[in-house]
Amino acid sequence: MSQIQIFDTPELLAAATARRFVMLAEKSSAEHPFSVALSGGNTPRRVYELLATDEFKNEVNWKFVHAFFGDERSVPPDDPASNYGMALATLISRVPIPEINVHPIPGVGDHHENARSYERELRTYFAGSAWPRFDLVLLGIGEDGHTASLFPGTAGLAEKTAWVIANWVEQLNEFRFTLTAPAINSAAEILFLVTGGGKASRLAAVLNGPHQPNLLPAQLIKPGQGELIWMVDKAAATRL
Ligand code: 6PG
Repeated sequence: MSQIQIFDTPELLAAATARRFVMLAEKSSAEHPFSVALSGGNTPRRVYELLATDEFKNEVNWKFVHAFFGDERSVPPDDPASNYGMALATLISRVPIPEINVHPIPGVGDHHENARSYERELRTYFAGSAWPRFDLVLLGIGEDGHTASLFPGTAGLAEKTAWVIANWVEQLNEFRFTLTAPAINSAAEILFLVTGGGKASRLAAVLNGPHQPNLLPAQLIKPGQGELIWMVDKAAATRL
């Protein structure tokens, strides 16, 4: 099932996303912890900040939340480009989530070994499952149509067995770590956060254009048995 929700401002979109997070996390318990794959980029920053405010933070039993990452850059955690670093500063360091429940993707070292070790960590957490069943995956889209670190034209788009890969991105001249499309698509719920007029035409192409996932990797995201919700602000929705 997929749906589009349109918000007047990025702030309203961030608040609705934080509310959705709280609503989904509320059901968590020791037997059924809440697993979320956080995204990087700018759009989720405000969501994380809101989740760390008293209004939201006290609604979540952080003991039962496990925070994973959908993608990461090849940088150490204290680099300004680190997705983990951003989430740490805006959310993780501000809420009582146990350190053992936070699962950053290692950004430095051997790229392929890092991807394999993160996949092992996920396989331990989701023991017995063919694919990871995240309760929630947060995603964004880039102006080039990428999502997570699945960039146009990259080899990682065709991955059918691995959960996590080190994806060589020629256009950035770097490796990015990312969940693969089938791993993302196994989630119970996926929220795409899209704001700003700069993304309007790409969003329209992803949603309503011809199926060209090699050019528009965001088109690969279709949960097999889960919800897909597009959280879009008015500026990004102008071409829909
Ligand atoms: C990252 C991402 C990436 C992001 C989009 C949108 O690490 O950059 O996870 O896929 O979600 O690039 O980014 P913005 O929210 O900054 O536009």
